[in-house]
Amino acid sequence: MKQVRKAIIPAAGLGTRFLPATKAMPKEMLPIIDKPTIQYIVEEAVEAGIEDIIIVTGKGKRAIEDHFDHAFELENNLAEKGKLKLLEAVQRSSKVDIHYIRQKEPKGLGHAVWCARRFIGDEPFAVLLGDDIVQAEVPCLKQLIHQYESTGGSIIGVQPVADSETQRYGIIDPIAKEGRLYQVRTFVEKPPAGQAPSNLAIMGRYILNPEIFRFLDLQEEGAGGEIQLTDAIRRLNEIQNVYAYHFQGVRYDVGEKLGFILTTLDFAMQNSELRTQLLEEMEKMVRKQSQAIG
Ligand code: UTP
Repeated sequence: MKQVRKAIIPAAGLGTRFLPATKAMPKEMLPIIDKPTIQYIVEEAVEAGIEDIIIVTGKGKRAIEDHFDHAFELENNLAEKGKLKLLEAVQRSSKVDIHYIRQKEPKGLGHAVWCARRFIGDEPFAVLLGDDIVQAEVPCLKQLIHQYESTGGSIIGVQPVADSETQRYGIIDPIAKEGRLYQVRTFVEKPPAGQAPSNLAIMGRYILNPEIFRFLDLQEEGAGGEIQLTDAIRRLNEIQNVYAYHFQGVRYDVGEKLGFILTTLDFAMQNSELRTQLLEEMEKMVRKQSQAIG
């Protein structure tokens, strides 16, 4: 069995939910405290043993490329001032081998993955979405790679969501379960309210066999008129087993405003330099709001 060595990070979406912030900057560059979202994702891939990463970019390409490049002036300045902790943080972002490809039009997630097909060639690969940060003892992607190594089939990371939320996600229709691993009858992208086959939602982490490109090559439009990755996964599952894995860890949805704010607050609470003061300020805010209400 071939090893999973390469990862695709699609970052070419329009980010309309964060306009106007995303007019000239990709949403994947929005920071959680002091680190762009996409760096959390890159670090997860590296911790999972990925050797080569390709980022699919659209507008604002330069901000991402610059971020992962060496910043000589800044590094010299920090070294001269003895700010070694900051220097280490800055250098960490330029240590991995990252490649870039442009998606000329945001035609959907399936299309973004298809754009990286030549880079992937004929081997299994990972996809990590910049919208989802996962905090876990064993990095989420590593958990999926373990499952790939024991099954040889594509592995889709899932977690349960509330029934009212299923229409926002790709949802699996599970057949059988062994531990946290599911065999899947089919995959449905954004099922209409009340029609979801389960509440297990696809959460932005995938290990895919290269045969997926046979279906992405067809460039078929699905939900919302976009070329959907979930549709190609459903077709792949018809010719070889595709599994879903309920991964361990806390998943943060940073792709929409409230999720982004809650993620920032939760990460700040975990930060010893910010926690105490943040709690005090939040108590003040809550008091003020309660008084205003009545
Ligand atoms: P989303 O649908 O969450 O991102 O796609 P979006 O389209 O940028 O967000 P909104 O709805 O307009 O606010 C999930 C991931 O897939 C990437 C996005 O950048 C995001 O990381 N994506 C999506 C692409 O790279 N290309 C696409 O055509 C669509």
